Amino acid sequence: PPPPGMSHGYFQHGGITFPGLLYSPRGLEAARDFPVHDDDVFNVTYQKSGTVWMLEILSLIRCDGDPRWCRSVPNWERGPWLETLLGLRRARGAPRPRLISSHLPVQLFPTAFFSSKAKVIYTVRNPKDVLVSLYHFARIFRPYKDPGSLEQFLEQFLQGDVPFGSWFDHVRGWMGLRGRENFFCISYEELQQDLRGSVERLCVFLGRRLSAAALDAVVANASFAAMSRNRMSNFSLSPLFILDLRRGPFLRKGISGDWKNHLTPEQSSRFDRVYRERMAGLGVTFPWDP
Ligand code: A3P
Repeated sequence: PPPPGMSHGYFQHGGITFPGLLYSPRGLEAARDFPVHDDDVFNVTYQKSGTVWMLEILSLIRCDGDPRWCRSVPNWERGPWLETLLGLRRARGAPRPRLISSHLPVQLFPTAFFSSKAKVIYTVRNPKDVLVSLYHFARIFRPYKDPGSLEQFLEQFLQGDVPFGSWFDHVRGWMGLRGRENFFCISYEELQQDLRGSVERLCVFLGRRLSAAALDAVVANASFAAMSRNRMSNFSLSPLFILDLRRGPFLRKGISGDWKNHLTPEQSSRFDRVYRERMAGLGVTFPWDP
């Protein structure tokens, strides 16, 4: 039988669902208590919003566009995951300034961050594309339950009945930090439309000056094609019991608007209705707002 508090391999922590493989209440408590340094840079997202893309960009900026680090060290070591015990151990030992990745909702984030000068980069993506990306991911990522039909999964997603909880709550929660000087929000769609301009803005936020050649190198090495070829970034080194790449690639399509190939007009309107309700009064506009 599953341990107390677990069902189908999932457990609840702070009202959020987590898979029991890789994650644990002890790990999440340790993440809350994580000692933050002022020079830490956190790469935060709701899952499937471009986390590993942003990590690649930040890794390359850190190295002035030199791709050697990205080509020799797996991304989960370059920007360890805050919410797993293994990731935390890696983060503690990482050379500073550290890059740390996280999907945690703001209320489960390290308490020390809020009184630090550490920086958060929050990447947000059209939630319909997040849904479709997550649907495919749930079929290859072993800690997650099989998503069933897209129709069923759509309902679970809209209700927030998925690992890491509701997209709406996640985004609303993190948007509460807007206006702080150590918080930077960017969308997957902006990265898509103008990667070079996005990298320049990221450099300003990070206080980094890169030459034109270095910027070119960041853009070239963070492309979908370059990342798909890079074994340190395409997860081909990930063990099979975590990620089953025989069922599909992690770097799947890398486009905006793939939801149009998956959602029926009815499903899309249903999504829009929930979206309007759940995002009402936030005071932030996104390019995909219905
Ligand atoms: P798709 O499944 O739509 O292809 P995360 O890293 O948060 O799990 O997000 C994964 C999504 O980001 C996947 O979306 C993946 O293909 C996309 N992605 C990763 N690197 C990318 C890149 N360089 N350019 C465009 N999309 C990228």
